[in-house]
Amino acid sequence: MKSFTFNNGIEIPAIGLGTWRASEEDGYNAVLTALKTGYRHIDGAANYGNESYVGKAIRDSGIPRSEIFVTTKLSATCHHQVGAALDKSLHDLGLDYVDLYLMHWPVFLNPEGSPMPIPMRADGTRDVVEDWDYLTTWKSMENLSKDKVKSIGVCNFSIQRMDRLLRECSVQPVVNQVELHPMLPQDKLKEFCSAHGVILEAYSPLGSAGGPVLENETIKKLAEKYNASAAQICISWAVWRGTVVLPKSITPSRIESNFKMIDLSTSDGQAIDKISDGMGTKRYVDPPFGKIKVFDD
Ligand code: A2P
Repeated sequence: MKSFTFNNGIEIPAIGLGTWRASEEDGYNAVLTALKTGYRHIDGAANYGNESYVGKAIRDSGIPRSEIFVTTKLSATCHHQVGAALDKSLHDLGLDYVDLYLMHWPVFLNPEGSPMPIPMRADGTRDVVEDWDYLTTWKSMENLSKDKVKSIGVCNFSIQRMDRLLRECSVQPVVNQVELHPMLPQDKLKEFCSAHGVILEAYSPLGSAGGPVLENETIKKLAEKYNASAAQICISWAVWRGTVVLPKSITPSRIESNFKMIDLSTSDGQAIDKISDGMGTKRYVDPPFGKIKVFDD
């Protein structure tokens, strides 16, 4: 399996299993199937509510912990207690350390709000603590024990926030995990991040629930040409252009086929790059944060 190297020298396998919406037993079985298939990278989050199942599958797999790259994420309601949140994740996962700890969102949600884990306001927007600075959160992340966290990074950071973070940080983020697929190639963010040694990680590489990107005509034609699945084309394209990719599935046959990389030609990779030029970009994961603008577009 291809891997990429972080700006701190640590390697990350290019394909990781996404575990968002893989609840409990499904999450457990998906992680076990993935590890049996050959995946060595599991992407999770405290907020997904399945860390104990994901961790149990990792422990039950029989694969040495040192051979598996494990990511989890700081919940948006925990920016004021980063160390305690990490300890809870490690406890729930049943692991001594994670390979990568990410700030899940650049916003702090009211830790006293409800419902948990995503407190909402009466107007249907998320209950954001508007005067909180994500740099405060990042400083706490920088101070986490190296025994518990090997690398740190962010998710859902725009160019503007990334720029500020890079100027103010003592420890550089190694990744920015964002929604990324052929309908949302994130060209400008990718160019900015790669110029600063930050790798993009693609979440929802098939367009999230139901995989709507798989219906795109260019993707379907390329799938036919390579005798591959549309998902394999999307996943291989993400790796071809230098991004880590995190396809989520709880279906064993998909978990297996998503792991098989297709060797795309340069011109076919470039054809996928251009899909959104004609039809515009499409973001599928866009929660309402009220006055706070999280995304650039
Ligand atoms: P399921 O988990 O039921 O297999 P994303 O990674 O973009 O968030 O997409 C996840 C969605 O795509 C899930 O609904 C998942 O369904 C589905 N999916 C994952 N792999 C494939 C595949 N190879 N073919 C079709 N749908 C897939």
